[in-house]
This record gives sequence, C-alpha cells and structure tokens, in this order.
Amino acid sequence: MKIAVIGKGGREHALIETLAASPVQPQLFSFPGSDAIFQIARPIPVKDLHELVEWMKTQKIDLCVAGEESYLVKDEGLANLCAAAGIPCWGPCKESAQLEASKEFAKQFLMRHGIPTGQAQAVNTADEARTAIGGQYPTVLKFDGLAAGKGVAVCPDEASAEAFLSEIFVQKRFGEGRLLVEEFLTGPEISIFAAVCDKCYLILCPARDYKRLKDGDEGPNTGGMGAVASRQLADAATLEEIDRTIVAPTVAGLSKDGLPYRGFLYFGLMLTPDGPKVIEYNCRFGDPECEAVMPLLRGDLASFCLAGAQGTFRPELITFSEGWSVCCILASAGYPASSHSGDTISGLENTRAHIFHCGTRRVGDTWQTAGGRVLAVVATGDTLDNARTLAHREAGKISFDGLQRRSDIAYKNI
Ligand code: AMP
Ligand code: GLY
Repeated sequence: MKIAVIGKGGREHALIETLAASPVQPQLFSFPGSDAIFQIARPIPVKDLHELVEWMKTQKIDLCVAGEESYLVKDEGLANLCAAAGIPCWGPCKESAQLEASKEFAKQFLMRHGIPTGQAQAVNTADEARTAIGGQYPTVLKFDGLAAGKGVAVCPDEASAEAFLSEIFVQKRFGEGRLLVEEFLTGPEISIFAAVCDKCYLILCPARDYKRLKDGDEGPNTGGMGAVASRQLADAATLEEIDRTIVAPTVAGLSKDGLPYRGFLYFGLMLTPDGPKVIEYNCRFGDPECEAVMPLLRGDLASFCLAGAQGTFRPELITFSEGWSVCCILASAGYPASSHSGDTISGLENTRAHIFHCGTRRVGDTWQTAGGRVLAVVATGDTLDNARTLAHREAGKISFDGLQRRSDIAYKNI
C-alpha cells in the first residue's frame, strides 16, 4: 500500500509514524514534509497541488491522507483533485471543508441542523459590529476565514473589542471578510475527533489542548502548547450527550446538505452549564492533539483510512488503549508573535518519550529549530500521573536557546 501524507508539522509526523506501524506496512511519502518526516517517508518532488496530484497518479498512490487544512480549500481543493484523478483521499472536498474555512458557513450549518452553539450575528462593518455587541461584554469576535488560529478575539471590554475591530476593518490584517459577533460561552473545553465515512462515524479518543502560551492559561493564544488525551477525559454520560446532540446530527446534516465527507472531523466544544456546545469545526485532526492521541491508537490505521476513503467504514480496524497520553510542546524564542530558527537542539538522544517534530531542520549531525512550535514530547501511561510526570521529565531533558514550555500541561483544567 502506497500512502502520501500531506503536511509538514508534528501532527503529520505523528500520523506518519502511526501509519508506518500499521500491520500492512505501507510505503510512505510526504509533501511538503520535513527533515524528520523524511526519516520515515520519502519526499514527493513537486512544487504545488496540481503537480502533487499528477505525481500521485503516475506513482499509483493508493491513498492520500490530508493532514493540514490549507490544501483542502486551496485551488480546486486537494480531495476534489484526488477524486478527479481517481485517488482515494482521506480528507473532505472543498465544499465540505467550508465548515472550517468559513465561520459563517459553520454557524449557519449548526443553526440549520439544531446543533447547540453560541448565538451569533454576521456583520460587514465596525458600526454593525458595535450594534450587534450592544454593550454586552465579554463578547467574542471571529473573522470569517482562515486566519491561522489568530482570527478569534475574546473581548472582556469595549477597549479590546475596538482594538480587534480596528485590526479587522481598518488594518485589514486578514484581508477582506465579514465578522461574526458571538455570544460568550463558559465552561471547560474539549476536543472531540470523529472519523467520518459518509453516513457512518467513529468517535476517537477525546483530548484537550492548551492554547495559551504561559502557565495558568496566561499570555497570548498560540497554535497549542500541549495536550492531554484519554477516554477518561469525559465521563460516559457526557460523551453520550456529545454523540447524540452534536456528532450524530453533524454527520446526518452533512449528508442532508449533500456535503460528502470522508476524513477526520474535529469538534471544538465547550461544556457549558446548558450542555455541550460547538465552538468550531476543523476538517482535520487537531495539532497538538494528534500527537497525544496517536500513541494511544492500536490496530491498522492505514487500512482504516484506505477503506474509509473508498467509502467502506471499518471501525473494527482501530481501537484506543485505556490509558493517558500527555504532550508537551517546546516552542522557539519569540513564539507566537514571531519565531526563531537556527538554534541548536540538544538532549534529544536521551529522551524516553515519543518525539514529534513540529518545526525543525537537520543541519549536519544536529537538529535546529525552524519554526514557532519546534517539538512535541509525548508520554503515555496507565494513569494520568504516570503520563504527565514522564512527559514533563523527558521534555525537561531537551534544550535550545529561548525555549518556551508550559509546566502545567495535564495538571491544570483536568
Ligand atoms: P476558535 O479559533 O474558534 O477555536 O477559538 C479560539 C478560542 O477562543 C477557543 O478555544 C475558546 O477558548 C475561545 N472561544 C471561541 N468562541 C468562544 C465563545 N463563544 N465563548 C467563549 N470563548 C470562545
Ligand atoms: N489544537 C487546535 C487546532 O488544531 O486547531
């Protein structure tokens, strides 16, 4: 089985390692990939999406696995191009990926199918936004488009709302687009992942990520500074409610709306006092949640994804072990405002944990930083305590100039 994995970060590194461990022993390829990924997958020598699909066709690739969201909505869409070329793709077509790419599309979908979510209003101007906010703080402002995780502002007061409105409508930081003014919700957050194959789905191991840069959930929002994953993160009754009120109606809604879906679907949820509500959909696995979840997966992920991409749902092919998994992210100096490259990483060889590379480069015999998030250090254990003690201890063995890491991952908010 020949599999091409599309992406270059820690999520794709974790996916590739898990695919490689599948009993069918697939041959792996990756684009754009990374030096760490190329230790287990061969590079695909192309420059863009069209060349990529041509290459996959010529090489008779059996399965394309979409890691990153950007390719799903770029040009004609990765999955659409794969479909035209007859290549099974695990990852949805461009039309369905609007669930992630457009906050307004997602909100209308949620409302139409009666799926619990915060009330929201779409606006075109700063004045319309002020009217929609109506002096009610905190409020949540969301730019309607892909903004690399930076398009959402939770505003405690008028000053912070005005600052964000100016970024959107005056500086046009994310380009042209509308804005959603959304009701402020409260409660713990949880990331739920489903593997969707048309009308069928399997809920995978739940996780939660830590979005703020600093301990105690202080500092700016990031792509994620760590994650914890376990079946035990939510009790059976909560998981049943999430399935019944959110996951099942979402999958049924996609089908009703004629939106084909084969791939991972990520539900960002808030467990509010009125029950679980959807904060966002992502049409892919979470990062760094994927790095935490993959080491718990048992079975044959490669055959599971291939069957799913071909329209055959085979949930019996994968399971998740009962324990816990904890992922600590090591970020480079300046992250998230900027990032620092070229710092030499030391201590990697001494660690007894899974190491996934988010942003590194191989230079001679050394690994160097090459991005904001640099490494994901992941440990599993039978108990939460074992997993988090090991993850933090092993993460502590690695160093580079300007390293940033949270010390409360899997301790806070459990
Ligand atoms: P998003 O990019 O949609 O995942 O939003 C980023 C973060 O903003 C979420 O993880 C939440 O912590 C927060 N957030 C988003 N929507 C709301 C909301 N309606 N109420 C409170 N917090 C929110
Ligand atoms: N961990 C959040 C995300 O992948 O969007």
